[in-house]
Amino acid sequence: MSNGSVLLVLYEGGKHAEEQEKLLGAIENELGIRKYIESNGYQLLTTVDKDPEPSSAVDEHLKDAEIVITTPFYPAYITKSRIAQAPKLKLAITAGVGSDHVDLNAANERKITVTEVTGSNVVSVAEHVIMTILVLIRNYNGGHSQAVNGEWDIAGVAKHEYDLEDKVVSTVGAGRIGYRVLERLIAFNPKKLLYYDYQDLPPEAVKRLNDVSQLLNGKGDVVQRVEKLEDMVSQSDVVTINAPLHEGTRGLFNKELISHMKNGSYLVNTARGAICVAEDVDAAVKSGKLAGYGGDVWDQQPAPKDHPWRSMDNRDHTANAMTVHISGTSLDAQERYALGVKNILESYFSKKFDYRPQDVIVKDGKYATRAYGQRK
Ligand code: NAI
Repeated sequence: MSNGSVLLVLYEGGKHAEEQEKLLGAIENELGIRKYIESNGYQLLTTVDKDPEPSSAVDEHLKDAEIVITTPFYPAYITKSRIAQAPKLKLAITAGVGSDHVDLNAANERKITVTEVTGSNVVSVAEHVIMTILVLIRNYNGGHSQAVNGEWDIAGVAKHEYDLEDKVVSTVGAGRIGYRVLERLIAFNPKKLLYYDYQDLPPEAVKRLNDVSQLLNGKGDVVQRVEKLEDMVSQSDVVTINAPLHEGTRGLFNKELISHMKNGSYLVNTARGAICVAEDVDAAVKSGKLAGYGGDVWDQQPAPKDHPWRSMDNRDHTANAMTVHISGTSLDAQERYALGVKNILESYFSKKFDYRPQDVIVKDGKYATRAYGQRK
């Protein structure tokens, strides 16, 4: 007789999971937590079958589940209607960071606790952001495709290639990832680093960045907050998005906001695909308004084969730096979020509910974080 059931929804690993035991985030390896869950008297149900609602295995298992564990990489959307069909559900855990795939308002109505493993992959994403900026601005795609295709047309690549040094780079959202992106950018001696966020960075955090910049580049005033998003994007050579998806950020980068961006600037989004309007970004890349767009998040995951961001490009094929949603699921990150999930389960199973405060997104019918929009 089990206490209850835990539903775990992860991406398929197939032969890769056999070849790489560190792929804890693949369904075959179950975050390494089966024994732990069963030793607490719970039954573990696992599936990759998440779509379509309401006829997937997720829908079937949710009828019984007390806890659901999902990931942003292969999101099982825990919608209002799914929550309504899950009478025993008490806890939703995101193995990773970003719980927008759970209807947080619906979770609040039912007093379901939603937690994530805050910080578990923020370095992984920050590294991916820096890589993507460099891929675009240095025109890596152009140079690499010639290397492997037997070509040697340097001018064809160099005509789209710049240095990151002395550019204005900005972030929408200066939380854990946004801050780490700024931190890493200092090494490139930027002209300015700007941020837009309704939460101020602590003065000592800004001072730290400026001090490092002074030390490395002889410039002590590079990091600045900008009050109006339009003002920030209009002066930026590169804009990176590092804010959660919520009602205030959904569709934020649409035709209108993009029209304020500098001609020929770059947009990098590893936050959530739906923060950008896919068709508007595609049009801006095709017209050259944006010199490039890159990131790893899509408004539908897995993205359909005909998603505009798969084929989006300029005439010279230098403007697309998309990957599938991998930035936060490096093997190092998987180890951290698997451990974090176990710790959250421990708090729940022990009935102490002593979650790390930063892991709690909603609890007792309320938002526990200010990151998902400005709320009272
Ligand atoms: P965080 O909570 O530390 O920081 C988010 C920041 O965004 C906060 O400072 C918040 O005030 C700000 N923000 C919220 N709404 C905003 C708005 N409308 N305009 C400007 N700033 C706004 O979160 P963290 O760890 O930095 O992660 C950010 C997001 O990145 C996650 O919510 C998730 O969606 C995404 N992410 C993506 C991953 C990937 O694999 N591609 C992995 C991890 C996170």
